[in-house]
Amino acid sequence: MEEKIIDEKIQGDALVIEGKQGNSRKLYIESYGCQMNFSDSEIVASILAGEGFNTTANLEDADLVLVNTCSIRDKAEQTVRKRLEKYNAVKKINPKMKVGVLGCMAERLKSKFLEEEKIVDMVVGPDAYKDLPNLLEEVDAGRDAVNVILSKDETYGDISPVRLGGNGVTAFVSITRGCDNMCTFCVVPFTRGRERSRDPQSIIKEVNDLALQGYKEITLLGQNVDSYLWYGGGLKKDFKNASEIQKATATNFADLLEMVAEAQPRMRIRFSTSNPQDMTEDVLHSMAKYKNICNYIHLPVQSGSSRILKEMNRQHTREEYMALVDKIREIIPDCAISQDMITGFPTETEEDHKETLSLMEYVKYDFGFMFMYSERPGTMAARKLEDDVPLEVKKRRLTEIVDLQQRHSAYRTKQFVGKTVEVLIEKESKKSDLEWSGRTEQNTVAVFPKENYKVGDFVLVKIEDCTTATLLGKAVGYA
Ligand code: SAH
Ligand code: F3S
Repeated sequence: MEEKIIDEKIQGDALVIEGKQGNSRKLYIESYGCQMNFSDSEIVASILAGEGFNTTANLEDADLVLVNTCSIRDKAEQTVRKRLEKYNAVKKINPKMKVGVLGCMAERLKSKFLEEEKIVDMVVGPDAYKDLPNLLEEVDAGRDAVNVILSKDETYGDISPVRLGGNGVTAFVSITRGCDNMCTFCVVPFTRGRERSRDPQSIIKEVNDLALQGYKEITLLGQNVDSYLWYGGGLKKDFKNASEIQKATATNFADLLEMVAEAQPRMRIRFSTSNPQDMTEDVLHSMAKYKNICNYIHLPVQSGSSRILKEMNRQHTREEYMALVDKIREIIPDCAISQDMITGFPTETEEDHKETLSLMEYVKYDFGFMFMYSERPGTMAARKLEDDVPLEVKKRRLTEIVDLQQRHSAYRTKQFVGKTVEVLIEKESKKSDLEWSGRTEQNTVAVFPKENYKVGDFVLVKIEDCTTATLLGKAVGYA
């Protein structure tokens, strides 16, 4: 439970797919960080399948090891460095094995990686994956290879990702890349570049393909999905120069949601992440209008203090955020809301921290992901503000918000006891092989006896009991 609340986003997984016939080389690919990284690894595996690679779950067998990395906090980078030590040990036994670093750390550290980590043969930033075949040729010829060029238009919209290590029921579909927001604490705009949106037709095609393959739920992914804008390609900032026709036929996020919901009315549609400043009422009305768009919004706030929000360059105040939450509750009364929160941002006082606690009390979030501030080199906060909140204060404040979130999660979960809810079965419960585990549309996990139901079924579950974050019940029929 605790793990779920803190740092769930930082996790590693070896990802494996069914082999493609005729491929003889073996790729071991591991991903850390956000959902976007996991989704990018599926694009990378797809590109490399065309280069003769099948994935393996066995590090020792690999010809090529790729690690898709995260820079969001220092701890995330340390985790990756430990993995590199592990690969180094394996490389001593299998010297032919090549190692490549992908993702945000590759972008942040660039060729410094090759100097710092002698075992790394290849460094590839998040917009350069289509160059992997050329980079591999270099590596095969015994040369180091680097491509960390960020792009203004790459969306990988034309690549059909292979689905790695999933449950065959839920999948991610990326709709935007990069971020233009420049929150002062955040490294993402530096590692992932300018925001760009993907062609809606390629999104719909991917969703339709997933439906054909039997998937039942998709999550539209982006750093800031609400600012999705397609007007024929190009950066959002250039929209004002677009032609009248481009403007008249542009697709915004609410339009896209409706297109996806209508294309596959039996599929559940989720999306992440919503930045409060960009979320419009249109999106809320689209959610209310389509039953298959799940009533759940991940709405990071970072702090409950308007002063700190300003220092963070978040484009809204505490009051504006609360008004948005009111609006959500008015338009979608049963909508679940989750948060991201940072404790100990530079200059944060006890007063600011209390405002965070009181904002949480106001919203009573269903879930939360809470972090201690970690200074990231090159960001505005690192350049302009001293990391002046002592570690023990950051830790104490984190514990206080985590404890409060636990209480609120328990409160929200309890509201379901006695009700019958629709659950999509995803997998076997971790605790018992006699039970299924799935999620409600509000994203709460529900566990219940298997009976004759199977993975991928939509089931009505009568909720009889709960723990802090899990509903316990019994299936009463198909939904
Ligand atoms: N818009 C993105 C945000 C990515 S970062 C998204 O898709 O979720 C995820 C979360 O990490 C942020 O919301 C923030 O709470 C946290 N975070 C980002 N930079 C951080 C830093 N320097 N220190 C601590 N936490 C940070
Ligand atoms: Fe980071 Fe803020 Fe964008 S948290 S990803 S700069 S919305």
